[in-house]
Amino acid sequence: MRLPDSGTDQPSEAELTAKLDPDLLPKHVAIIMDGNGRWAEARSLPRIAGHREGIKSVREAITICLELGIPALTIYAFSQENWNRPAPEINSLMGLLEHYLSTERNKLIEQGVRFRTIGRTESLPTSALQWVRAAEHETAHLDKLHLTVALSYGGRAEIVDAIRGIVREAYDRKMQADDIDESLVHQFLYTHDLPDPDLLIRTSGETRISNFLLWQLAYTELYFTPTLWPDFRRREMLLALIEFQGRERRFGRVFTSLSS
Ligand code: FPP
Repeated sequence: MRLPDSGTDQPSEAELTAKLDPDLLPKHVAIIMDGNGRWAEARSLPRIAGHREGIKSVREAITICLELGIPALTIYAFSQENWNRPAPEINSLMGLLEHYLSTERNKLIEQGVRFRTIGRTESLPTSALQWVRAAEHETAHLDKLHLTVALSYGGRAEIVDAIRGIVREAYDRKMQADDIDESLVHQFLYTHDLPDPDLLIRTSGETRISNFLLWQLAYTELYFTPTLWPDFRRREMLLALIEFQGRERRFGRVFTSLSS
């Protein structure tokens, strides 16, 4: 049960939801989920407690996208650089991924969520990879929400993999250098069948892209919030969407009422 907001003069979640223009919602939201460790440390808890709490925010983000009809959500769960973390934390994160997929798989299916991953997932431990492949397989026919989880992901590695794919194709099909254009590069990205994100959210006060979706974020609206990921729930997501709807997206063009 959701309790009404009380005790503050802040707008309620219902009021925030009512502010949203359903015609101006993003088609694809990407999220850098940052601050789990700091959330845990602030409570003298082990870092994994922050990641565990972060899963609840993942659930909430999925629910909001489904409710509002936002068709694609991409979340950065494990970067290539994260392999440099202490082994116990990596093992805990992989365990958490397995636990998430084993306990939520049926719910994802019921909700119509297609689960996919991007990244060099072949580096994942065998057991985690098996859970990932099973969830991808079992949800492949669903399309209410395209949930993409970046795992062992790096934006530069994605571009390198795209270049490798294009070079292979060029040898096979005798393509010329001039045949390569932006739309061809897009076809070789991990996200080739998704639109570019309209909105990127990064939590925890960091204002970097951190090697996430480097090609795809070219015209994306960036939203940075000091809120730590485990605290990023419905209200925070609504605030991000409202801010997004207030932005003027020009894609390099000039909008003016004056004729020149
Ligand atoms: C960044 O916080 C978060 C991560 C590296 C992992 C994010 C993972 C989850 C939310 C759970 C797993 C997700 C799924 C879909 C199963 P941080 O540890 O870098 O925080 P800090 O910057 O405060 O140290």
